Amino acid sequence: MTIRKVGVAGLGIMGARMARRLIEKGFEVMVWNRTAARAEALRSAGAAVAATPRALAEACDVVVGCVADPPAVERLVFGADGVLAGSRPGFLYLETSTISPALSKRTAEALREKGADALEAPVTGSKIGAEKGTLLFMTGGRQETFHALQPVIQALGTKAIHCGDTGMASTMKLIGNAMISYMLEGFCESLTLGRKAGLSVETMVAVIQASGYASPYYDFKGVAIKNRDFDTHFSIDLLVKDQALALEEARNLGVPMPGLAAMREVFQAARGRGFGHEDIVAVVKVLEANAGLKA
Ligand SMILES: NC(=O)c1ccc[n+]([C@@H]2O[C@H](COP(=O)([O-])OP(=O)(O)OC[C@H]3O[C@@H](n4cnc5c(N)ncnc54)[C@H](OP(=O)(O)O)[C@@H]3O)[C@@H](O)[C@H]2O)c1
Repeated sequence: MTIRKVGVAGLGIMGARMARRLIEKGFEVMVWNRTAARAEALRSAGAAVAATPRALAEACDVVVGCVADPPAVERLVFGADGVLAGSRPGFLYLETSTISPALSKRTAEALREKGADALEAPVTGSKIGAEKGTLLFMTGGRQETFHALQPVIQALGTKAIHCGDTGMASTMKLIGNAMISYMLEGFCESLTLGRKAGLSVETMVAVIQASGYASPYYDFKGVAIKNRDFDTHFSIDLLVKDQALALEEARNLGVPMPGLAAMREVFQAARGRGFGHEDIVAVVKVLEANAGLKA
């Protein structure tokens, strides 16, 4: 199958950048977004705009889905004018949204019943990775579909690790975001202690990054904390969504995750204070306020 026309559904932080990247890579791109006005910038960049996800699927060889959460995927795929209604034998759907393994399986099964297929393909690499085409894909589904979708995957990312059957990649993505939760909250808590004691953020990050517990993640988020830059790469609202999905999966499997359950409450407190739309690093503001520190 030659992939010529690619649809992108969901033009938020990630989807809009993926759509631009696909245009740059020479695909014929069509887009759809729930809030239609957000598609205008992509129209100016050369994309066609579909009125519904069904129309998008009907016009394209492949649709890349990149929407917020499970209710958004329900609407996008299973709505009366959804992707499923526009699918047909040979059509492929690439699901890059972070959702539950169960919904991912239901999506693939529904498409397979119509002779089409879905590959679950959650990503990591955030806003910059989407912009530069350096995302890491975790994939789950049929091997032949993984191979058929390589032209699109390689346009958007630098690496794809096939995790197994449908559901495995969504599970892996939730594990990754649990890890980010622990790392980021631990980093922010520790910096808050140091700041209250009189250490500078720069000194603390310099020691951490020279140590055996260093991580590129701490460079990225350490600079943001130092500069008080909370511009959204990945929102607190969406991380809390993923923490809840991971805890639901853990409950289904009978796995206790006491650390993640506690972390979620810290990020939830950030939402309560109105920081839900800000970058996940804004969680530091909650910890600082609780410690009586001024920004
Ligand atoms: N940002 C990251 O660093 C990152 C990294 C890896 C994975 N992800 C995952 O990628 C997905 C998109 O993330 P993002 O950061 O691009 O999110 P975002 O900027 O908040 O954009 C969310 C998108 O979902 C759409 N949407 C929300 N609810 C919907 C509904 N009920 N029906 C249809 N569309 C709906 C929004 O449409 P409107 O414009 O109409 O609101 C928008 O296009 C999420 O699953 C996220 O967890 C994000």
